[in-house]
Amino acid sequence: MTARKIIIDTDPGQDDAVAILLALASPDEIEVLGITAVAGNVPLELTAKNARIVCELAGRTDIPVFAGCDRPLKRPLITAEHVHGKTGLDGPVLPDPQIPLAEGHGVDFIIDTLRAQDSGTVTLCPLGPLTNIATAFQKAPDIVERVQEIVLMGGAYFEVGNITPTAEFNIHVDPEAADIVFKSGVPIVVMPLDVTHKALVTKPRNDAFRALGTKVGIAVAEMTDFFERFDKEKYGSEGAPLHDPCVTAYLIRPELFSGRHVNVEIETQSDLTLGMTVADWWGVTDRKPNALFIGDVDADGFFALLTERLARL
Ligand code: RIB
Ligand code: CA
Repeated sequence: MTARKIIIDTDPGQDDAVAILLALASPDEIEVLGITAVAGNVPLELTAKNARIVCELAGRTDIPVFAGCDRPLKRPLITAEHVHGKTGLDGPVLPDPQIPLAEGHGVDFIIDTLRAQDSGTVTLCPLGPLTNIATAFQKAPDIVERVQEIVLMGGAYFEVGNITPTAEFNIHVDPEAADIVFKSGVPIVVMPLDVTHKALVTKPRNDAFRALGTKVGIAVAEMTDFFERFDKEKYGSEGAPLHDPCVTAYLIRPELFSGRHVNVEIETQSDLTLGMTVADWWGVTDRKPNALFIGDVDADGFFALLTERLARL
């Protein structure tokens, strides 16, 4: 089986970090062509720094990390330090990155890569606001049909919102960008809160990360120890929801996940429900399905895969 070529677009964030580590620990299934940072959980300067910290933690200084967009298409940036801490990667003490940012803008890397690789062979994996992806589609419409698939973390339906009563953070930060991506016609797999809230780092699972005894295992245990506070307080969850690693786990073992191919549209007008992903789960409209909306995961299988792969780093 040839490894799937991907670009990870990300706003690290502890859960982004785990998603990146899982991808880098799985070279048989995933070839990371590059990482593009976007403003989201914390400002761009920090997400671009954190992405490099994570690559160095994985011993992968060969991965090019680009800085992308520093604010949403049309709105002021909303960040989430209340969830991820001031640095965006609070929890472990990790050294500043030695590797420099790659030359050029992240949006141009996405465009150039999609033009250079055979059409239909590159998957985009957005883990934050969709600003970089939408900007690339606007700047170079020719690349849209060249994308193999978009597998993203974002949105919510039955689980409703985590940043407003109706919206999930990634979509809420840049709803216009999400609207462009969901209307692009590219095949999309969505990992919404409906499934990511079932991938909880319970204490035994956190202990299993720590028991790896490696730099990576201990760092991941410390990241999720920090990151769980918000969800424990708000939802009474048993642990941190590993939102973004659902994306990379899907690329490795899609059978761990199940969902429904439905129409998903983005609220961009109403202040009350801005950024809501309106998923026609029950097929009550004649709107064309445009996304595989994932609702469930084999959580034990997910954590067994994640722990086994992290042990490789
Ligand atoms: O709502 C969860 C999403 O927002 C995750 O991707 C998290 O990293 C933040 O970006
Ligand atoms: Ca993220």
